[in-house]
Amino acid sequence: MDRITLDYTYALADAVGAEHGVTEAELAALAGPSERALAAVQARRKKDLRWLDLPHQAEMLERVQNFATSVAGRFENVVVLGIGGSALGNRALHAALNGPYHDLAPRAGTPRLFVLDNIDPDLMGEFLAHVDVRRTIFNVISKSGSTAETMSQFLIVRARLIEAFGEEGHKAHIVVTTDLKSGVLRPIVDEVGYQSFEVPDGVGGRFSVLSPVGLVSAALVGIDVAELLAGAAAMDARCKVAPFNENPALIYAALQWLMQSAKGKPIAVHFPYSHRLAYLADWYAQLLAESIGKRRSRDGRDVYVGPTPVKAVGVTDQHSQVQLYTEGPYDKWFTMLAVDRPDHSVTIPRAFEDRPELAYLGGRTLEELFVAEREGTRIALTEAHRPCVTLHFPTVSAHTVGQYIYLLELAVAVMGEHYGIDAFDQPGVEAGKVAAYALMGRKGYESQRAAIEGRAAGQRRVV
Ligand code: PA5
Repeated sequence: MDRITLDYTYALADAVGAEHGVTEAELAALAGPSERALAAVQARRKKDLRWLDLPHQAEMLERVQNFATSVAGRFENVVVLGIGGSALGNRALHAALNGPYHDLAPRAGTPRLFVLDNIDPDLMGEFLAHVDVRRTIFNVISKSGSTAETMSQFLIVRARLIEAFGEEGHKAHIVVTTDLKSGVLRPIVDEVGYQSFEVPDGVGGRFSVLSPVGLVSAALVGIDVAELLAGAAAMDARCKVAPFNENPALIYAALQWLMQSAKGKPIAVHFPYSHRLAYLADWYAQLLAESIGKRRSRDGRDVYVGPTPVKAVGVTDQHSQVQLYTEGPYDKWFTMLAVDRPDHSVTIPRAFEDRPELAYLGGRTLEELFVAEREGTRIALTEAHRPCVTLHFPTVSAHTVGQYIYLLELAVAVMGEHYGIDAFDQPGVEAGKVAAYALMGRKGYESQRAAIEGRAAGQRRVV
C-alpha cells in the first residue's frame, strides 16, 4: 500500500535552531498528553464524533454508489449548491482526483463539476447564463438546512427547473444532502419527494467530506469513493492506537501546538507542491481555522486562540510569497505537500545548447525541475531558520487523498485537546449568520436588527 508519510526533520531544532525549531525534549514532553488526547477523542467515536467512523460505513457507501450508477450518463453537469464544509471538500476531491482540465473534455459519460459556494450575483448570473440546467443535476448540501446562501440558490435553481420540466419533472434534477431530522430541508425532501442523503449525527460540516456531503458529488463525477474511504480507513487503523513516535496525526498536532505556543508562530502555511492538491489547502484552512480559532476555552475562560491558515501553491507562489517567508517575520511554519510519483512525465526539449542559461534544462524533465524547486525552497527556508514539514504523497490517488483527509481531521481533533478548546463548534460563524438573517428581515430576528441599526447609527466614516 502507498502510505503518506510525514517528514518533520526540518521542523526540529537540529535543523533550524532551538529558537524556531522544536527540540526532542519538547516533543517527548508531549508524548503522554498527546496519547491521552487521542484516547479522549477516540472515546467519542461512537457518540458525538461519529465522523471518526465514516470510513467504515459500508451501507452508506453502497447507497452513494448505487445512486451514482442509477443516474450515470444522464447529466452533463453536476452542480454542488453548498458552502463551507458543504463545498470545500467537494471541490478539492474533484481537482485532486479528476485533474485540472477534466471539465474541458470529461471522460466518456462523466459529468463536469461546478461548486457554487458563493452567492455573488455575478457568479450565479454567469452560471445561469452559461450552463444548461436541463442537462444538470444539482446536489443541494446543507446540514442545517437553513444556510441563507445555499437555500437562496436552491430556490433560484428549483424555479428554473420547474420552468423547464414542471413540478414533477424537476425532481429528477435535485438530490439533497441534509440532516436526517433537523432543519427545513428534510421536511421539504419528504413533502416533495426529492432524492436525498443524510449527514449523519456527530458529523460536523468541516468533518463531513467522507460522508454523503463529499461522496455523492465525487461518485457522480467518477471518483472511486470506495478507495477514498479505504485510504481513510487505512489512516484510521494506523493512527488509532499507534504510540506518539509512530503516529503522524499526533506528531502533526503536537508540532502545530508547539509552533504556536512555544515558538511564536501563529501562521500555518499549507504549501502544496501539486496543482491538483491546491484545493486541499482550502479545505484544510477551514478545518484548522473553524476548529481551533476560538474565543473561549472549554472551562469558559476567554483565550482567543487559533492558528491563521495560509495557502501557498508551489511553484507559483515562490514568485509571490517566498520572499516574505524567508526574510519576513518569524511568525510562520510550513507544511509542504509533495507528490513523489506524478501521473505525467514531461521532457524539456534540448535547444540553444550554446547558452548555459537554457542548456542545463534540455533533456531534463519537469518532474526533476519541480522537485528541485520544491527542495530548493525547503533548503532556503531551512537556511533562514523557518521550520517546515513535508507530507509525501507517493502518488495522488483516491486512496492517498483519503489518507490525507483522515490524517488531518484526526490531527485537528487532537490539536483541540492541546489548545483546550472545543474543536467541533463554530459560534463565530453562527453570529455572522444571525446578523445576516436580521439584515434580511427574517422573522424572529427583529431585535437583532434593531441592535445592529442602533450600533451603526453615527459610525460611518467614508472618504
Ligand atoms: O463547518 C461548518 O460547520 C460550516 O462551514 C458549515 O459547513 C457551513 O456553514 C454550511 O453549513 P450547512 O451545511 O449547515 O449549510
